[in-house]
Amino acid sequence: MKILFVGDVYNELGQKAFDKYFLNVKNEYKPNFIIVNGENIEKGNGLSEKTYKDYLTRGVNVFTLGNHAFSRPDYKEVLELPNVVRPANYGKNTPGKEYVVINYNGKKIAVINLIGRIFMHDATDNPFTKMDELLESIEADYIVVDFHAEATSEKYALAHYLDGRVSAIIGTHTHVPTADNIVLPKGTLYISDVGMTGAKYGIIGGDVSQGIRKFLSGVPERVKPQKESLLQFNACFLDLEMKKIERINIFE
Ligand SMILES: [Fe+2]
Ligand SMILES: [Fe+2]
Repeated sequence: MKILFVGDVYNELGQKAFDKYFLNVKNEYKPNFIIVNGENIEKGNGLSEKTYKDYLTRGVNVFTLGNHAFSRPDYKEVLELPNVVRPANYGKNTPGKEYVVINYNGKKIAVINLIGRIFMHDATDNPFTKMDELLESIEADYIVVDFHAEATSEKYALAHYLDGRVSAIIGTHTHVPTADNIVLPKGTLYISDVGMTGAKYGIIGGDVSQGIRKFLSGVPERVKPQKESLLQFNACFLDLEMKKIERINIFE
């Protein structure tokens, strides 16, 4: 099973970078299955049904999300869409699905999204014990986890905790790609962060002057996306049989 995982597509420049590079990457790597983190795809906040449908016609199979899963007014309808997962450890009463299982040529691929708790603001459940719970009930040939988290320590701890129990753990959320694509001792593929798709020169996708102003003044502001920039496209290519995880980092 060959999987392409594209990191957080951020705002209009993210969609522009996706439009520019996705097809070439898809044609070059020929994945069987494609996962996109879409938590920032609409103006930095959440996913819409329109983009969901558009990307599915272009070959995307599943959207994962993150802390922006609930940022749009229509989030409940979006979370109902069949191939969208929100972080499983938000809790039992949270709208949306804890995981999806998709059939591909007779094989079942489970996709799980989890959110970290270190340096994150939402009051979520423990991602480690949530995974124990989910793994008791999920029946699938392959399990891919998007761990949407800030701290590399938490990401590594979860990775080793799940080593040999899931096919791959792909980190998202920091928007900065790491170079630690590795195969863990018991065979799970891992990277701390796949990186983002969007502005090359933003502040992790946000407007540069605003980002600097916030640090100078200390006054919190809601992040505005960077409007113009060269682009970046970041993804990972996973071969689950060959136990291979390759980084795809395009920086214009
Ligand atoms: Fe993000
Ligand atoms: Fe995030």
